[in-house]
Amino acid sequence: MYKILIALACALVALSSSAAEIAGFIADRHAKLNVQCISCHKQGADQATVRKEQCLACHGSYMALAKRTEKVNPNPHYNHFGDRDCSTCHQGHSPSVTSCDQCHKFDLRMP
Ligand code: HEC
Ligand code: HEC
Ligand code: HEC
Ligand code: HEC
Repeated sequence: MYKILIALACALVALSSSAAEIAGFIADRHAKLNVQCISCHKQGADQATVRKEQCLACHGSYMALAKRTEKVNPNPHYNHFGDRDCSTCHQGHSPSVTSCDQCHKFDLRMP
């Protein structure tokens, strides 16, 4: 009985810590906004790639995004890197990456 209780407590801790870990990721923040899996995963949630068209269905266009971040220097949505898939930087279920930093060292806050 005691062992079962410990196992249960461990399972609960594991569950809540993994939930806390993913709480900040894009997909989770979108879930809070009522954006379902299928809105990003048009071809099914087992599809690893989410093309930019899926994100732009709600977010408009790169030009519209560039306007939103026009005060950010360098503008992450308007530069020589081009209009890549959003997930080049904004990861769905893991920490996002500033892909510019493969070559540069910018101080960008990456949501
Ligand atoms: C069904 C509509 C919908 C889809 C699809 C969608 N978003 Fe969003 N997103 C929203 C809404 C609504 C907000 C909150 C208002 C805003 O900031 O535009 C938001 C906010 C954001 C934000 C800023 C807030 C935050 O939590 O960081 C980022 C970044 C973002 N979305 C990226 C993405 C990316 C990347 C994709 C595709 C992988 C995507 N979105 C797909 C609706 C959507
Ligand atoms: C090169 C990396 C990169 C790519 C690619 C990228 N973003 Fe972003 N995005 C950023 C960064 C960095 C910020 C935060 C800028 C800031 O406010 O400091 C941001 C902010 C945002 C925001 C919040 C804007 C606000 O008003 O605060 C949204 C929404 C967003 N991105 C959506 C998208 C979508 C949709 C795509 C694909 C069409 C995309 N981004 C592609 C780097 C990127
Ligand atoms: C805001 C858009 C968005 C939402 C909502 C979203 N995902 Fe994702 N998902 C992505 C992106 C982008 C990727 C590509 C890998 C990455 O960037 O993390 C991805 C990748 C995945 C993968 C491939 C494995 C992996 O982690 O890379 C699975 C499985 C998945 N998502 C399941 C889901 C499920 C289930 C839901 C609903 C609970 C969901 N996704 C909601 C954007 C989203
Ligand atoms: C594959 C490498 C690579 C990537 C990735 C990359 N750049 Fe560059 N970038 C360069 C090179 C090479 C130059 C030209 C040499 C220089 O001036 O540093 C340059 C020049 C620039 C310049 C003008 C010079 C300066 O430093 O003021 C800006 C601004 C810039 N990049 C922004 C970005 C942004 C924003 C991203 C991500 C969205 C990005 N770059 C991604 C290689 C890269």
